Amino acid sequence: MHVVIVGSGIAGLTAAIRASTHHDVTLVTKGALADAATSHAQGGVAVALGADDSAALHAADTQIAAAGSADARAVDVLCTDGPARVRDLLALGVPFDRTDDPGSLDRHGDDLARGREAAHGRWRVVHAAGDATGAAIERTLIAALHRRHVTILERTCLTDLVLRDGAVVGVDVLDLLGEPRRIEADAVVLASGGAGHLYRETTNPLVATGDGAAAAWRAGAVLADLEYVQFHPTRLAVPGGGLVSEAVRGEGAVLRDARGHRFMRAVHPDAELAPRDVVARGIAAAIRDHGAVFLDAGGLDAAFLVGRFPGLTRATLAAGFDWTREGVPVAPAAHYSMGGVATDAEGRTSLPGLSAVGEVACTGVHGANRLASNSLLEGLVFAVRAADALGAPRPGRLRLRGDATVPVTTVTDLPEPVRASRPVGGDHGRTGGPDRLPEPADVRRVLQSVMTERVGLLRDAAGLAFARRELAALTVEAPTTVRGHEDRALLDLARLVARAAEARTESRGAHARTDHPHTDPDAPASLAWARALTPASNPVTAPVLAPVPEEAIA
Ligand code: SIN
Repeated sequence: MHVVIVGSGIAGLTAAIRASTHHDVTLVTKGALADAATSHAQGGVAVALGADDSAALHAADTQIAAAGSADARAVDVLCTDGPARVRDLLALGVPFDRTDDPGSLDRHGDDLARGREAAHGRWRVVHAAGDATGAAIERTLIAALHRRHVTILERTCLTDLVLRDGAVVGVDVLDLLGEPRRIEADAVVLASGGAGHLYRETTNPLVATGDGAAAAWRAGAVLADLEYVQFHPTRLAVPGGGLVSEAVRGEGAVLRDARGHRFMRAVHPDAELAPRDVVARGIAAAIRDHGAVFLDAGGLDAAFLVGRFPGLTRATLAAGFDWTREGVPVAPAAHYSMGGVATDAEGRTSLPGLSAVGEVACTGVHGANRLASNSLLEGLVFAVRAADALGAPRPGRLRLRGDATVPVTTVTDLPEPVRASRPVGGDHGRTGGPDRLPEPADVRRVLQSVMTERVGLLRDAAGLAFARRELAALTVEAPTTVRGHEDRALLDLARLVARAAEARTESRGAHARTDHPHTDPDAPASLAWARALTPASNPVTAPVLAPVPEEAIA
């Protein structure tokens, strides 16, 4: 069968390599192959390899970080399959760092160095080139891909999924020359990453504009957990500053406010190594109260710091800071979407013909807050499972979230998304005068401001209602460029994330409501959403999709 895979991070490359053994594979990616969030991953891959570790311990830490909201079956799959998948990477030649400490050998007698990050009870994060793990994995997987028989279409942007009789049968793209093109497929695997650019400050690369999740939404797929957006606690707080890995805190660096006070000790017993959402909110509060927060690595041996984190040493020096001698300013930034296209443990979505893996997917393994360094592992584990399930008979009942029942809210009250096929010209349904709405070039800037100010680290009912109104007033004209398609995707997702955040009237993990500061034990851990489709809203393929039956996700 012909399989189109969209995206070229760890999940897309792994799925393509695996699927190419049995299928004819086309890999479509918006930038160059290496333009993926994976290339920027620093900390590493969390995996239970140590003699003192187990899948059960890894699963327990994953659940604690997730505020108890992760799907137990999916977490079990992640932590149990993980070691074999990391050994696959070793076999492909990923140059994971080694240790010369004989006491650190893993259960297989391997000498992989293992780091620690927040909320991990064990040292279990394997890394490469110190803080360049993602780049090393990406390079190795791209080399492996080139040894396979896979058609690679770079600089090709997904614009929509193609539906026929309710099934996904291909993708519409803008090709290398910016021309619309349709690629037919027997199956489509979304591995198109997250949507960090919903927010003004993000650790994500420019390509992370939620194209895959938005296309799946427009096609009628069930999406879930959209309100859970992870803010990484420590982005280098200078213009254009990137991620400063949590592994630095794992090695002993601490956080100080502008007075030099180690404020996290008063916030959580695990201080700087508390779950990520707790540290991010702690830093935001300290910045609000005292103006700035600094990561202080001065307690670490300078030679160790530079050797363990060579990339970050270069990045901080380039920003004017010698972190062997002084603190570096840090602030939270949008980092990861826990939610996405709802899938089962084989990557299958609610739409026949469509699978999703990696950050675009919502397997339920992250719950309300992802455990550090579980994202690369998730990409690996579920990409392999999804590739192996391609072409297998589809179960009558698709379990999208373990044993739990997740009611799907069919959304009818969001503004209709713009279809790429909409005729160009006319006013495209503008509801206000030209002075009311921003120019198209401003849409992204406005939505990022709204999301950052009202749907960010801290939320409340008034802010979310304001966001709903502001986002409803934005429009993206029938897009013809990659930028236009990205803006359309961001706007679709922004409305959904705001809507989901409004619906969850409690605080849970990364979703913090100042007007509902406690977790409601009776609230469902997961909220799922699908569009109510009509022929008019689906002009590409005309047929009405049946509303998603509740038992489809039971
Ligand atoms: C980090 O190195 O802190 C990021 C790793 C992750 O997002 O899990």
